[in-house]
Amino acid sequence: AVTRTFSIIKPDATRRNLTGAVTKMLEEAGLRIVASKRIRMTREQAEGFYAVHKERPFFGELVEFMTSGPVVVQVLEGEDAVKRNRDIMGATNPANAEPGTIRRELAESIEANSVHGSDSDENAAIEIAFFFKPEEIVG
Ligand code: CMP
Repeated sequence: AVTRTFSIIKPDATRRNLTGAVTKMLEEAGLRIVASKRIRMTREQAEGFYAVHKERPFFGELVEFMTSGPVVVQVLEGEDAVKRNRDIMGATNPANAEPGTIRRELAESIEANSVHGSDSDENAAIEIAFFFKPEEIVG
């Protein structure tokens, strides 16, 4: 089925001027960008978005990193969008990601891993609603 997922192009990628390179890989993987905006995440947004990781040892660093520069938040649409996006992103740690994936080809480290993608349809809906009003999404 055609579904939607949520993506973030992270500060390590925007800093290196890779917004287009990431977007091209998403599009070539069969995903359509139906909403997109470049924002500087506030601390409150980053803490809220990553609330599930609050107890992890890397939470503080993660919030610092995600607020360290611009990010591009996007809604992606396509056949099985969550899985399709996770496949093209590759493993969280770029060292473990398959060749040809965004993280393997572009990411710097497990933290500065260039992209975020929703891990389920349920979380995709929550994450999309966190950053986008319905009228900002144009399918
Ligand atoms: P993301 O998919 O955005 O979800 C949580 C993020 O935390 C993850 O990508 C990484 O950027 C980061 N992360 C996960 N594990 C670690 C780790 N062991 N050390 C530092 N950052 C991590």
